[in-house]
Amino acid sequence: MRGLRLHSLPMSIEGTDARVDYSRVFTQAIDRLHAEGRYRVFIDILRNKGMFPNARCFAGHNGPKPITVWCSNDYLAMGQHPKVIAAMEEALHDVGAGSGGTRNIGGNTHYHVDLEGELADLHGKEAALLFTSGYVSNEATLATLAKILPGCVIFSDELNHASMIAGIRNSGCEKQVFRHNDLAHLEELLAAADPAVPKLIAFESVYSMEGDVAPIAAICDLADKYNALTYLDEVHAVGMYGARGGGISERDHVAHRLTVIEGTLGKAFGVMGGYIAADRMIVDVIRSYAPGFIFTTSLSPVLVAGVLASVRHLKQSSVEREGQQAAAAKLKAMMRDANLPVMLGETHIVPVMVGDPVKAKKISDILLAEYGVYVQPINYPTVPRGTERLRFTPGPAHDEAMMAELVSALVEIWERLELKMAA
Ligand SMILES: Cc1ncc(COP(=O)(O)O)c(C=O)c1O
Repeated sequence: MRGLRLHSLPMSIEGTDARVDYSRVFTQAIDRLHAEGRYRVFIDILRNKGMFPNARCFAGHNGPKPITVWCSNDYLAMGQHPKVIAAMEEALHDVGAGSGGTRNIGGNTHYHVDLEGELADLHGKEAALLFTSGYVSNEATLATLAKILPGCVIFSDELNHASMIAGIRNSGCEKQVFRHNDLAHLEELLAAADPAVPKLIAFESVYSMEGDVAPIAAICDLADKYNALTYLDEVHAVGMYGARGGGISERDHVAHRLTVIEGTLGKAFGVMGGYIAADRMIVDVIRSYAPGFIFTTSLSPVLVAGVLASVRHLKQSSVEREGQQAAAAKLKAMMRDANLPVMLGETHIVPVMVGDPVKAKKISDILLAEYGVYVQPINYPTVPRGTERLRFTPGPAHDEAMMAELVSALVEIWERLELKMAA
């Protein structure tokens, strides 16, 4: 794209002088999003360290306006934990800002090695491997794993995250999509596949937009029966479930049955990065073959030091997890009592259904402008069309007064816009 000019460039199509009007094509692409009401506007904020979920919002105001953040994936507020901040400050002053290279060429610091040991231990696996994000870990691992297995068929839950879908697509393998959390459908597809071909079942533990949970043990039973490998994305569960924050697979005592467990370091652990944990052999294969791991500068040691402090803390402290579960239960109950159309799942994710992209954006705009409440509308393609929603993520730092303000604001807006209450 470097040097591309957004106006007509000379182009010859089949010997004519037709010119591609690049500017028009790009404008039309953006116009389509506006017309569908799903053009994305990013909020301009600064969080107040030590006072999260309070933040300052800059856009559209004279000077920063105080707001309450209700949609952060810094689920446990570890991004402001004193141990995390101290570890990052210490690393910055000890070794400087960046890693200086790829893991192979200069960027393999002692922090990286230590963190991989902590993460392998967290999931009871032989080894772990760090990536620059959860997205990259999914894309790189799935694409590489399936490419290494000739003829591999991947069985993918229909609600899997875009990063898993990208990895599966980039593997070039056959993909079979099973209905969300539908064991009978998964078995039907597994049974119909050639018993001789390699198989991989890819799924998530906590689905981030619904807040529901996969039947992991039953999926492992099917994997055993049909000789399939399993790949579990625990991005919305690590740090938050299980006695040491090892995710739903730890909570359900099934971590040892999964081939690969994948997680992020940017949500409950509060910093940045992604990883997989698996047998030493599989980690070695990904380390040796995955372009998304090999050809990129490794995470800054400052970030890795912060994650190390966060993972170590959450392995031995349940206060944050308990605070989050209590806050989620409280908010769901308050919303249900107020007849708001809240989805009452078993996890910390609290979706309120709107079913229309324009209205979802409007509610979000009113909440911010009039109530100082920040929640981002969730539209297609993150969720299917017609299921647009607001997704609240209460955590240990959201108190009851904040919840009462939020619920009364939502009720007022629901009445004002004549939206449907819960049946
Ligand atoms: C289910 C799931 N997997 C993976 C990712 C990517 O993780 P990261 O944000 O660390 O890139 C996300 C991110 O939002 C996600 O929701």
